[in-house]
Amino acid sequence: MRIVLLGPQGAGKGTQAQRISRETGAKHISTGDLVRAEIKSGSELGQTIKDYNDRGDLVPDEIIVEMMKPYLDEADSWILDGFPRNGSQAEALDKMLAEISAGLDAAVALEAPDDLLVERLSGRRTSEATGNIYHVEYDPPPGDPEEDPGPFVQREDDREEAIRHRLKIYHEQTEPLKHYYADRGILVQVDATQPITEVTAEIREAVEGTGGRV
Ligand code: AP5
Repeated sequence: MRIVLLGPQGAGKGTQAQRISRETGAKHISTGDLVRAEIKSGSELGQTIKDYNDRGDLVPDEIIVEMMKPYLDEADSWILDGFPRNGSQAEALDKMLAEISAGLDAAVALEAPDDLLVERLSGRRTSEATGNIYHVEYDPPPGDPEEDPGPFVQREDDREEAIRHRLKIYHEQTEPLKHYYADRGILVQVDATQPITEVTAEIREAVEGTGGRV
């Protein structure tokens, strides 16, 4: 399986990628996680990209492509979460796929209205121990520390101002990619306002319909 997950911030790309990866063994490649890990490492690159992340701006394309490329090369079954995010990254992805003679099974667009997304992101918590994503109300962290010891923290960029800014960039730069993939006949649109397990089932069913092994 090789799929791209598109969708606005809070639509559930990370949540769905983690679940499908656990269920199928496909590698979950999240450029947002790569960015946060680099920042946490305290490296020079991490310091350079921290301001972009905290403001909710996109990190420059050439930096993101260099960061994610090795992960793409090392697995044949993967779910891309947060990449590509604009036309230039979509073209870079096509080029990388051509180099390894691989194609995309589907581009899955998770659809949800902005107001719901702000509410979801305000309640998001991520486990520092496992990286698992939760929501205080819709998908609370487990009470059993054996399952996930936490702590469960809020992301730096989950402030309302940064969320609205990220959504604006999404509508301007990322949403047009739906046409890019629709023109190739591989766009699948999924209603992301449904409960988490139903969204997972719909993605798997839709990708199977495209011939992708999920
Ligand atoms: P990134 O980490 O990709 O953040 P994002 O795009 O803002 O997306 P989110 O992680 O906020 O949303 P999500 O759709 O994954 O939602 P989630 O599953 O967590 O990027 C962060 C930053 O890195 C960027 O701003 C940029 O600076 C940089 N970056 C990353 N990629 C880049 C690129 N390609 N180019 C340039 N820069 C890049 O779910 C959200 C919440 O909702 C959770 O609490 C979850 O539990 C809950 N939830 C999910 N689904 C449901 C549901 N169906 N019902 C109820 N609750 C749900």
